[in-house]
Amino acid sequence: MQNPFTDKIAAGDQFCDRDQERAELSRLARGGHSAVLLSPRRYGKSSLALETLTDMRGQGLLTAYVDVMPVSSERELVERLARGVAQGFGWGMALGQLPRQLGRLFAHVHLEFSLDATGPSVSAMLDPHTEVLQLLEEVLEQTCRYAEQKGRGACVVLDEFQEITQLEESRVIEASMRSVIQRHQSVAWLYVGSRRHLLRSMFADRNRPFFDSASIIELHELPEKAVVPWITAAFAQTGKVCSEATARLIHSHSRGYAYYVQRLASTAWDLTEELCTDGIVDQADAILLRELSSGFEIILSSLSLAQKRLLQALAQAPTDQPYAADFLSKSQLSVGAVQKAIRALIDRDLIERRSNQNYQLVDALLAQWLTQRPPTW
Ligand SMILES: Nc1ncnc2c1ncn2[C@@H]1O[C@H](COP(=O)(O)OP(=O)(O)OP(=O)(O)O)[C@@H](O)[C@H]1O
Ligand SMILES: [Mg+2]
Repeated sequence: MQNPFTDKIAAGDQFCDRDQERAELSRLARGGHSAVLLSPRRYGKSSLALETLTDMRGQGLLTAYVDVMPVSSERELVERLARGVAQGFGWGMALGQLPRQLGRLFAHVHLEFSLDATGPSVSAMLDPHTEVLQLLEEVLEQTCRYAEQKGRGACVVLDEFQEITQLEESRVIEASMRSVIQRHQSVAWLYVGSRRHLLRSMFADRNRPFFDSASIIELHELPEKAVVPWITAAFAQTGKVCSEATARLIHSHSRGYAYYVQRLASTAWDLTEELCTDGIVDQADAILLRELSSGFEIILSSLSLAQKRLLQALAQAPTDQPYAADFLSKSQLSVGAVQKAIRALIDRDLIERRSNQNYQLVDALLAQWLTQRPPTW
């Protein structure tokens, strides 16, 4: 039997829950409203966006998925947009139909269609003599007009959208995208990203072009009540047994962090002959921590001493009082150093504070790993 869990995009049976967010995203898109989907890394944004696009196609919408990352130039951004839109809007069409239906979608972007292992695939070549801003506006404008001409709603996902802020001309790009997008109602844009402070400031700062142009949806951990039956069913469908109590242990070790739920369940499944026990889950957890440790070392090596101390102290004891005397003495930091380190770690999405609760690590397994090893600094 094949392992039912995955560390790649989760689809179909590999995808657990998110019913509420899925329904909300579809509802917004059908009404032509744009949304921002935010969460820390590997919480399941891309999987959710793709599952939702599948739902929307079923409801008759045109859909497209554009991964903005990595983007090294303005021209590459336009090329990715053009390719993603043509690929998505051509969904369900036979290869032979595509040039006639979509070949002239853009005036200054040449599209080519071919067949690869997964079906028709598109490549986009930008006219070298046309300015990049003109190309960008043309691609966005034509995307919206195509949906209007077809009389269909559309949803375009821009994954890792915050990456456009890394471009040299990012402010001009932002302004230009926004001005085309707001002229049309036919396309709902779904902006997805993991650099939460970057995305929030794009959409919540009055001085930015995208201010207030989309509803913000935050993705949280997968809840125990959804994860437990999903894990037990995945084991059962593959001829193995995992009790609800043991599935609860997988959820609590991974704190519902989608990527770790999958990795831990997957390792536990590999170790299980017939019955997955709590002991197997603990063993899987130790293996997973070992596998993750070199990545964690790299994160630590990029931090200042004060940031490392703060991270370690918060891993051991999340607190809403990081300036209290006992926390300062435990972390061996001054008030000023804590202030600075908190800002830096929030900026990097390593720690967070939800609605005035404790400051805590975003990554549950990094927290577990830090508490299990004595600091080497
Ligand atoms: N709803 C879900 N149910 C079960 N597993 C999920 C779910 N969503 C995501 N995952 C798993 O979580 C991991 C991360 O998924 P995904 O790439 O969709 O997240 P992401 O937030 O887009 O990550 P990144 O920040 O790296 O872009 C994958 O292993 C995926 O299989
Ligand atoms: Mg993603």
